[in-house]
Amino acid sequence: MPAMRRTARVAAPLAAALILGASYGTAQSPGDPGRGRQVYLRYCEQCHGDRGDGMGEVARWATPKPRDFRQGHYKFRSTPYGTLPTTSDLDRVIRDGLYGTLMPPFEALNLRARADVIAYLQTFSPRWRTEKPGVPIVVTSRPAATRESVTKGRELFGTYCSTCHGDGTGNGPTAAALMDAWGAPLSPADLTRHRTKSARTASDIFLRVMTGLDGTPMPGFSGTLTAEQAWQVAHYVEALGSWSGSSKELRAFAATLPPPATPTAPPAALADTTPVAEIAPTDTTKVAVVADTSVRTPAAPGRATRDSVATPAAPAAPPAPRRPATIVVRMVMVGATYRYEPSSISARVGDVVRFVNVSGGPHNVAFWADSIPAGAAAQLQKNMGATMGPLIGALITAPNAEYRVSLAGLAPGTYKFYCLPHLAFRMTGQINLQR
Ligand code: HEC
Ligand code: HEC
Repeated sequence: MPAMRRTARVAAPLAAALILGASYGTAQSPGDPGRGRQVYLRYCEQCHGDRGDGMGEVARWATPKPRDFRQGHYKFRSTPYGTLPTTSDLDRVIRDGLYGTLMPPFEALNLRARADVIAYLQTFSPRWRTEKPGVPIVVTSRPAATRESVTKGRELFGTYCSTCHGDGTGNGPTAAALMDAWGAPLSPADLTRHRTKSARTASDIFLRVMTGLDGTPMPGFSGTLTAEQAWQVAHYVEALGSWSGSSKELRAFAATLPPPATPTAPPAALADTTPVAEIAPTDTTKVAVVADTSVRTPAAPGRATRDSVATPAAPAAPPAPRRPATIVVRMVMVGATYRYEPSSISARVGDVVRFVNVSGGPHNVAFWADSIPAGAAAQLQKNMGATMGPLIGALITAPNAEYRVSLAGLAPGTYKFYCLPHLAFRMTGQINLQR
């Protein structure tokens, strides 16, 4: 099949966008998995493996690795973060390939063969039997890019994207520590070229921003950004490189703007308006439920249980010697939001806080240097163990992995913290430390 081989060799220049004749809707592929298996064995198996585990013979030489289909995580979708892609989403990846990776464009396979192979790859993950694809996010009509939209896009980029993408090249403070859901290191895309794995146009960028990339640390921003803002970000990204939709004029203009500020320091807007205070009353009631009481030493007889965190005033009597308590804070994604549960905790000097990566990771714990008692930074830095910057804890990627921060030797006071990858989602919290 020479024609096939020719297209399969490298990401060949793509033919003008073939509009899919059939719109598949959102159900499973209408293709035939039996016929799809033949297509798969001929064209996909050498990379994706005969069991769909991504362990084909070529896998050894591939970076990134061919996808393991068994978990049902798909990056390039029109559907919200965490949901399955539509058949058209999968068809587009198969037809166009993924630029800069070994995934070739299979435009030489006809629509029916592609539908068949999709039906077959849907047999590898049980998700396809129990879940429906998400409802596609609407791509609103694209406004014209202007100096104003590029300028606004740059600000939004600094707030929402720079923790990973840095100045656009992928050099953000978290970049070096990012991992994908399959345990391989993964760098944020370099957006200063003319395209990325799946994106060539502003509409593509709009969708990648709104939907996020499942199986990677990049969250979906559909609950955070309005459509107008997503277009502004897309216009800024386009102006970072020679994307086909960008103009020379706007590229030159973007180059005159200072690079977006990367929030390693507390961005005043977020730090000051942190919702911690508002949600503290409900959250403190959760402490008793969420805190891992099993690892807590029983309260000494006659001493008030320290679960009564809502009333922090300590009794005047000299405190009885006590063993440090361990307080569990869960790091979770709920819908399109990310938070620490509870987000406000009361603790005593010597206690240990266990931050557990429950969902939506990677997460971490970073403290704002100017939100903690004067002079506490050095001791806190020591207590944090693995860090990737001053008071910035290492990223926790593995599910249920934890990050412990000891509160020994620290001055009493308030310690405000945040999750670097999800600061833009206001994933923040605070420790009220008492003697
Ligand atoms: C030469 C190796 C190679 C071949 C052949 C190949 N793939 Fe891939 N494929 C990859 C790689 C590598 C990735 C992962 C890219 C990434 O995650 O960045 C991938 C990813 C995918 C994805 C995931 C897209 C997403 O949104 O996450 C799908 C679906 C897919 N391939 C389908 C196929 C099908 C169907 C065939 C056969 C018709 C095929 N691939 C053949 C290498 C290959
Ligand atoms: C928590 C880290 C993180 C944040 C925050 C983040 N990204 Fe990403 N982004 C990534 C990673 C990692 C990749 C590479 C995924 C891959 O290649 O599989 C990526 C890839 C991309 C891509 C390329 C998709 C493709 O086709 O290959 C675009 C475009 C993008 N990001 C835009 C943005 C924009 C715009 C924002 C802010 C609104 C943002 N990202 C926020 C981590 C992040």
